Amino acid sequence: MIVSPVQNIYARQNFKANNRWITDRLGIPIYKTTTYCFRDDIDWENLIKFLCMKYRDVPIVNVVAHACSNGMEPLSFLMALLVHAPQDLKKFTPIIAKDLNADNIYMAKKNIFPISAEDFFRIQENTKCKYLNFIELEKYKNDVNQALLMKPKKILTDNIIFEQGNIFDDVPKLSPENTILFCRNMWMYLNKQEKTKLAELLGKRLEKSSTVILGYLDVYNAEADKFLLREGFHRCNNMYGTQNYLFSK
Ligand SMILES: C[S@@+](CC[C@H](N)C(=O)[O-])C[C@H]1O[C@@H](n2cnc3c(N)ncnc32)[C@H](O)[C@@H]1O
Repeated sequence: MIVSPVQNIYARQNFKANNRWITDRLGIPIYKTTTYCFRDDIDWENLIKFLCMKYRDVPIVNVVAHACSNGMEPLSFLMALLVHAPQDLKKFTPIIAKDLNADNIYMAKKNIFPISAEDFFRIQENTKCKYLNFIELEKYKNDVNQALLMKPKKILTDNIIFEQGNIFDDVPKLSPENTILFCRNMWMYLNKQEKTKLAELLGKRLEKSSTVILGYLDVYNAEADKFLLREGFHRCNNMYGTQNYLFSK
């Protein structure tokens, strides 16, 4: 596998931990690391309302954001939680955020997140313009597409633990009860055997009280929902009418 080495992003104009194709030795693409802050295939406010309702009688919920790329997905979840249900912060944290790609996790641990203007507008909207409570912003002059550098503040960094990991190794170690597993927009990079295997691992490990969160691309490009249905999962009946792709047994 060929992975571009992480270097000082200020010194190297085109380097981005986010948004890279990772290829094998022959140059054949394996997966892409693209992610966005407040990716718009989730209705973040309704997701928080749904999860707070589902876990209202539970003292601790294990949130694992797998295949998180450079970490903007768990950061979005945490900001949404702080805006819409700050009273439940302790219940849902620390968030364990993982990705197969070591470079992305390296950048996440460095707390450096290049973002685009679109990302910034979504942060403003989803945090109800309270974003300055959670992040600092700097101009990022080196790349016109990634116009800003986002630096999460302590309230975010204290509540997320970033680690490199492979979802296939980690699912068997999840807590079966009261776990929320993000594994979003990554199933389209798995072949049929791998999708079957991942769904089987999830089916074996997770109990009814747990929730699996897919992304738009998983459902519409990879039919990940069908692999989960075969393992006894069903789409959650979400009373808030969100378009999120939530599954549990
Ligand atoms: C397109 S990104 C999606 C990022 C984020 N979940 C989102 O929806 O914005 C796909 C990510 O899946 C990760 N990935 C691929 N295979 C994986 C595996 N076996 N275990 C963990 N992460 C994996 C890649 O490294 C990449 O960062």
